[in-house]
Amino acid sequence: MQRAHTIADLRALAARRLPKAVFDFIDGGAEDERTLRDNVEAFESWMLMPRVGVDVGTRDLSRSILGCRASLPLMMAPTGLAGFFWPDGEVAGAQAAARAGIPYCLSTNSVASIEQVAAGVPEGERWFQLYFLRDREWMRALLCRAVAARYRVLCLTVDLAVQGRRERDLRNAFTMPLRPRLSTALDLARRPAWLAGAARSRLGFGNFAVAGPGFTSVAQHVASLFDPSANWDDIGRIRDQWRGPMALKGLLHPADAERAVSLGIEAVIVSNHGGRQLDDVPAAITALPDVAEAVAGRAEIILDGGVRRGTDVIKALALGATACSLGRPFLWGLSAGGTEGVSRTIEICRSELDNAMTLLGTPNLDAITRDHVRMRRDAR
Ligand code: FNR
Repeated sequence: MQRAHTIADLRALAARRLPKAVFDFIDGGAEDERTLRDNVEAFESWMLMPRVGVDVGTRDLSRSILGCRASLPLMMAPTGLAGFFWPDGEVAGAQAAARAGIPYCLSTNSVASIEQVAAGVPEGERWFQLYFLRDREWMRALLCRAVAARYRVLCLTVDLAVQGRRERDLRNAFTMPLRPRLSTALDLARRPAWLAGAARSRLGFGNFAVAGPGFTSVAQHVASLFDPSANWDDIGRIRDQWRGPMALKGLLHPADAERAVSLGIEAVIVSNHGGRQLDDVPAAITALPDVAEAVAGRAEIILDGGVRRGTDVIKALALGATACSLGRPFLWGLSAGGTEGVSRTIEICRSELDNAMTLLGTPNLDAITRDHVRMRRDAR
């Protein structure tokens, strides 16, 4: 793990350990994957503008995120199926987050249940991510379980009325567990470490009572259980039911951010679901400045999508984000080495961010301002 020096190194390690269909499920996006690529590349449209003569002898990288003092301006994005990538993957990820002092958000679509993750990692800042389900009673029950298991923040994801068309998954016929096919069997023969872990794991969607039909694709799971008819009234009702802080995840339009603020939602997560839902929507970093202007400090803003470098985090903060949320970088670390792999992801982010802040002349996160970034003249 110590030989991984960048997030890209961890991705390469994950590609070696995981079956191709599983790696593609993590790595891929919707349709032509234009938004997926743009999420990363759009950071290049922004340059950093350093200042000199600032005392950067000591640095403070900590940040308050919805009332929790995090050691870094980062959180682990909710990602389904983590237990399919590494045995007890959700617990492994939550452990690394707790050790590092950053928030961990558990997905509705986790393999481990709400209670299993809470029991496995009793300390640490836990958020629970909820989707709109057709079965509103089940949704309410999930909320009650999250309260009972002491998840502090609710993250309601609103960009998955149906699943985006993820063509890698269609081509690979990706299901959990993997459907036996000759190509899969040949691939698995080269992945003994992953296979041994998967064989030991109890696979399924741990927060749902109904077991899938054996080999379940995520698209089937979403189509049968998720509710595409949910609207702002429903969002308002969830806001009323949840007593603690709440974040709304998956918006890009400033007017939607305004609406969220007017409902008393404390944080908006500017996100296109990592390019996995509607293709051709703006990169998260591109959408951020308008959302920040609309929100005007009335809610916290979390930037989610394409963050791969410490310098990306600085750009997001300079453009109005309180913190960044990372999905694939943590899953690559998890797939490469469980808790140690996720810890390595966090360590790489911390060391890149610290180095960049020192060279930029910003000893703490409050010192990072809009004046520290410039749009490139030749930006697309
Ligand atoms: C996700 N994402 C996601 N989001 C969510 O709200 N609930 C979920 O269950 C999942 N599941 C999921 C699985 C996988 C494999 C990935 C890669 C992503 C989206 C995730 O929270 C986040 O928005 C993106 O991953 C951010 O983009 P990056 O950091 O991966 O570029």
